Amino acid sequence: MAILQLAKVSRSYRKGESEVKALDAVDLSIDKGEFLAIVGPSGSGKTTMLNILGCLDSPTEGTIVYDGTELHGLGEAGLSAYRRDRISFVFQSYNLIPVLTVRENVELPLVIEARARGRREAKSDREIKALALEMIEAVGLAGKAGRFPRELSGGQEQRVAIARALVKKPLVVLADEPTANLDSRTAGEILDLMREINEAMGATFIFSTHDKLVMERARRIVALHDGRIASDSGAPAGARP
Ligand SMILES: Nc1ncnc2c1ncn2[C@@H]1O[C@H](COP(=O)(O)OP(=O)(O)OP(=O)(O)O)[C@@H](O)[C@H]1O
Ligand SMILES: [Mg+2]
Repeated sequence: MAILQLAKVSRSYRKGESEVKALDAVDLSIDKGEFLAIVGPSGSGKTTMLNILGCLDSPTEGTIVYDGTELHGLGEAGLSAYRRDRISFVFQSYNLIPVLTVRENVELPLVIEARARGRREAKSDREIKALALEMIEAVGLAGKAGRFPRELSGGQEQRVAIARALVKKPLVVLADEPTANLDSRTAGEILDLMREINEAMGATFIFSTHDKLVMERARRIVALHDGRIASDSGAPAGARP
């Protein structure tokens, strides 16, 4: 079943007199549990696509249906709940908070969620801590929970960012060039980790990349060119229903 469906999605930007179509009438259907790479030259629309999928940006035309809900109809409050509860981001530059420990960084989405929910439905501090430690262990960083980001390697920082993205057990994880700052061996390890989690948790992963080795690990590759889909290897047989 499709978890995300884009129909004729366009995003234009004004550049002085002219208009740039960062995305141009894109149709794309992504199933639950896919492990999908978005590739293409610089300026082809990869970041725009991820930002739109994550509701950090909205299309100028077209519709996005997420798990049966048309996102346009949600309004601001609905959209921010969607961003908070359903989608997670992993950024190229990790975006960890330097003054917080590894555990505190990973706890952050749960703390924000607890605030938003109000006291009654919120998870307790103890539950939050346990969930964070479980994810830290899952990304291979047991023992580093009390460290600060500056005490970690780039690959370890990206593992923390992945743990933080996954701690809420999101249905969809979006990652814009998640391995761009890593050497190729570490990049491979991070991809393997994402894939393991993809299989274990069934979370859908959508990531952009320039890196051939990273592309090789994807199960589906969508190539963009000038904001259009130039090729799509298609959802592999056996992607989760
Ligand atoms: N905020 C903006 N204002 C104006 N133009 C923009 C903006 N964001 C993106 N664009 C334009 O939209 C097009 C697509 O940009 P996008 O960042 O999505 O490409 P990309 O594939 O992620 O590139 P890269 O590989 O360099 O990260 C480019 O032509 C870019 O200049
Ligand atoms: Mg980009």
